[in-house]
Amino acid sequence: MNLKDLYIDFFVSKGHKQIPSAPVVPENDPSVLFNTAGMQPLIPYLMGQPHPYGTRLVDYQKCIRTNDLDSIGDKTHHTFFEMLGNWSLGDYFKEESIKYSFEFLTKVLNIPINKLAVTVFKGEDGIPKDTESASIWQSLGINKIAYLGKEDNFWIAGESGPCGPDTEIFYFRSNDEVQDIFDPNDDRWVEIWNNVFMQYYKDNNGITELPKKNVDTGMGYERVTAILEGVNDNYLSSVWIDIIKKIESLSKYSYEENPESIRIIADHIRTAVFILGDEAGIKPSNTDQGYILRRLIRRAIRHAKKLEIESNDWEIVIANMIIDKYKKYYSELEKNKDIILDELTKEKNKFNRTLEKGLREFEKIITNVDKVLNKDLAFKLYDTYGFPIELTEELAKEKNIEVDIEGFKEKFKAHQELSRTASSGKFKGGLAGDSDKEIKYHTATHLLNAALKQVVDKNVHQKGSNITAERMRFDFSCDHKLSEEEKQKVEELVNIWINDKIDVTVKEMSKEDAIKSGAECMFIEKYPDIVTVYSIGDISKELCGGPHVKNTGELGKFKITKEEASSAGVRRIKAILE
Ligand code: ALA
Repeated sequence: MNLKDLYIDFFVSKGHKQIPSAPVVPENDPSVLFNTAGMQPLIPYLMGQPHPYGTRLVDYQKCIRTNDLDSIGDKTHHTFFEMLGNWSLGDYFKEESIKYSFEFLTKVLNIPINKLAVTVFKGEDGIPKDTESASIWQSLGINKIAYLGKEDNFWIAGESGPCGPDTEIFYFRSNDEVQDIFDPNDDRWVEIWNNVFMQYYKDNNGITELPKKNVDTGMGYERVTAILEGVNDNYLSSVWIDIIKKIESLSKYSYEENPESIRIIADHIRTAVFILGDEAGIKPSNTDQGYILRRLIRRAIRHAKKLEIESNDWEIVIANMIIDKYKKYYSELEKNKDIILDELTKEKNKFNRTLEKGLREFEKIITNVDKVLNKDLAFKLYDTYGFPIELTEELAKEKNIEVDIEGFKEKFKAHQELSRTASSGKFKGGLAGDSDKEIKYHTATHLLNAALKQVVDKNVHQKGSNITAERMRFDFSCDHKLSEEEKQKVEELVNIWINDKIDVTVKEMSKEDAIKSGAECMFIEKYPDIVTVYSIGDISKELCGGPHVKNTGELGKFKITKEEASSAGVRRIKAILE
């Protein structure tokens, strides 16, 4: 039986409700591009909001981490992975959590006790040593225990949010005899599961107690499957092996000859399939998630070239295998199959048109470069040949040449500002930045929020929002399906405000003043002390990072295309600007 099924069944038998994997793009958290851990979609509930499914939850969550793309190609890294997790939202705490993990590992997966070891928090910065967890482990017969500090045993996603000390479980992956003393630096011991005791909240002001003591756990599906199958290269486990074999058969090289390129193609196409197949509707582009997607596909194409893959539809063959493999767990892949295949091929064709020429240009350029490839040449490769800067960097690195990335970014930014009508913009990690259309949708979202309050109920609140260049999506608290009349009135009101050509203004103020002034916001704890507040005349006032248009007159005609249920007590509107 698959590890995912075993995990879900076990925790369901312990009174947990299975929740579906959330989309890869966080619905309520603009601070990250993708969900990077199972807990991310659950932040509001870890903060104290009641979850509609109760206090014991279990799932497998689609996660994407693209911060160390350079590591992809080795035996253990993946950009997409599945995280198995179970949660207690103010229900059980350390004792049950540890006992459940122990029972699952030793009774369901039949891992011998002597191959397990754990780390616990040694106490630091006023947060006490976690002797409680250590004694629970000891009572279960686990004596290989190491106490470590906050670098290792205190978990938080990013800089602020719910957090707490954790206990990490390690497995001895080796045929060597297990040592009596556990040394967490000995790399035969690999971490398999992390149980976080989330009882704190951290922000710029420091650490405070959360209203409830929660448990958040995470187990990497790929890694644990490889361990259970006794392979020390994740790509040789049942998760990957058929895909690796297929790429090998399409390629002129064997896996042994060029494992890196084969792994990169397998990994990147799988991630692209999951991004394209996701409800968030991401397409390859030059901003945010779309840019990551473009980079992944283009990098896979470059490595397909290195492997001299000649098949015309290699990306379709691999993507189809991935869809078939995962559709049982993620039905959206089957539903969005045409989009996935179509977009992959479109992006491949687009890049193939310039790739050859670009590579020739690169070879020409590089012969005259001494140590550093300058910003103008890097920009030319980007602008004329569609080379993501990271690809230029990778190609240059193979020749021991550096690229002036900072210079490139400045040039890119200047170019972007020139080609944009709206002056306010953001320049997040990578080559992010919203398109004009996306900026318009940001402002339309505020108008829609205000219109719903006026037409439907003043207590309507935003529950989520997602914007692409093609459409906006808005989730809000509401206990009924909107009537035709309500929808029409909302639409009319937004269009009246657009026709009124109202100025959009922005002000910086302290979070406290912002709240006092009645500014609306979704999740106050997550904002810094100084916030930006966007106002649209006296119609709307919201805490928001922007960017927005300068005047509602720029928006065009607003049209609701769909109204549907999102989850219990939450409705969803999709709308476009024509
Ligand atoms: N949120 C914890 C992690 O990702 C469980 O390791």
